[in-house]
Amino acid sequence: MIRIDAVTKRYDDGTVAVDRLSLDIPDGAITVLVGPSGCGKTTTLRMINRMVEPTEGGILLDGADIRQQPVNSLRRSMGYVIQNAGLFQHRTILDNIATVPRLLGWSKQKARGRAAELMERVGLDASLAKRYPYQLSGGQQQRVGVARALAADPPVLLMDEPFSAVDPVVRKGLQDELLRIQDELGKTIVFVTHDIDEAIKLGTMVAVLREGGRLAQFAPPAELLSAPADAFVEDFLGADRGIRRLSFFPSDALELATAPLVPLDADADRLAAAADAPYLLVTDADGRPLGWAEPGAPLDRDRLLDHGRPFRPGTDSLRTALDGAVLSPTGWAVAVDGDGRAVGVVSQQAVGEAIRAAHGRAGAEAKAAR
Ligand SMILES: Nc1ncnc2c1ncn2[C@@H]1O[C@H](COP(=O)(O)OP(=O)(O)O)[C@@H](O)[C@H]1O
Ligand SMILES: [Mg+2]
Repeated sequence: MIRIDAVTKRYDDGTVAVDRLSLDIPDGAITVLVGPSGCGKTTTLRMINRMVEPTEGGILLDGADIRQQPVNSLRRSMGYVIQNAGLFQHRTILDNIATVPRLLGWSKQKARGRAAELMERVGLDASLAKRYPYQLSGGQQQRVGVARALAADPPVLLMDEPFSAVDPVVRKGLQDELLRIQDELGKTIVFVTHDIDEAIKLGTMVAVLREGGRLAQFAPPAELLSAPADAFVEDFLGADRGIRRLSFFPSDALELATAPLVPLDADADRLAAAADAPYLLVTDADGRPLGWAEPGAPLDRDRLLDHGRPFRPGTDSLRTALDGAVLSPTGWAVAVDGDGRAVGVVSQQAVGEAIRAAHGRAGAEAKAAR
């Protein structure tokens, strides 16, 4: 664990960048530092690998003051990724990634082998190995930056706004990739961003900092959304807090109705059995949803209402289920399995009840934790 213990950083000109900050950063998880520009995020990150020294307080790594170990070995245990990747422009992609292993004295061959392995891990095609950084897109360069930081397999990754300079679509891809890599490797990641949505998506724990380098709140993202500590945090979280919080509630407790599911070639008996349903969800021969029909009328493939975007119970959240229900012309959301086959339908009202129940459970859990 990295413990930031009552750390203050005052620069020579008197600027207080970080003010009595205390944080326990858990192992094997992503901890995000988020806050407006100038609130001390980069300063905090740089104190962890001693590129900046605290004025007061200290930082402990697994219980030992980081000043007790040589700065080189400390930095080797911490990969560092920055915005625009910070690649060496005169070195190939492969040699960029192999930098730290080479510094550690690995043979060229072994270091390049490791670099090739990492290219694959971060989703870079092997054909890019011999290119130079300027021949890559911004998103690809960022992946190289991540691969380079991972090359010596450090237990800790420090990432300073690594995805801020790329467009939203590429950024989403990089975020998903980071979550996947984290799942596989279980690094301790300290991730800095000014983007609260990125913080909520990536963070196991999120530290919200305010100007003057003071901690406003340190909590899991679902708790930030449900119980912001003060007006600053609430304002920083922005609009749609309630809806966004639904992303953290699983949809597997939703009770699915199966009576309204009917195949397109249903016979009269089958249709009679579904006659009480407010709408019928018509499926193809494989059970995949085709659209909605009113009960009572003969089934006509060309006259079905759009079934909207289905959700996967268990995999998707209540937010996705609610979205499906809201977008559906019938007000019912369609649930599908991993193969896209309909497994049931659920009404807006039932989703609403599940949301209230989930709020109740989350409230009780938060109370028990206090
Ligand atoms: N080397 C420095 N000397 C003086 N002030 C600095 C220095 N580096 C950063 N600052 C100031 O410290 C504050 C925090 O900066 P920084 O940690 O870079 O914030 P963030 O990364 O959250 O944008 C800002 O007011 C910034 O201007
Ligand atoms: Mg910064």
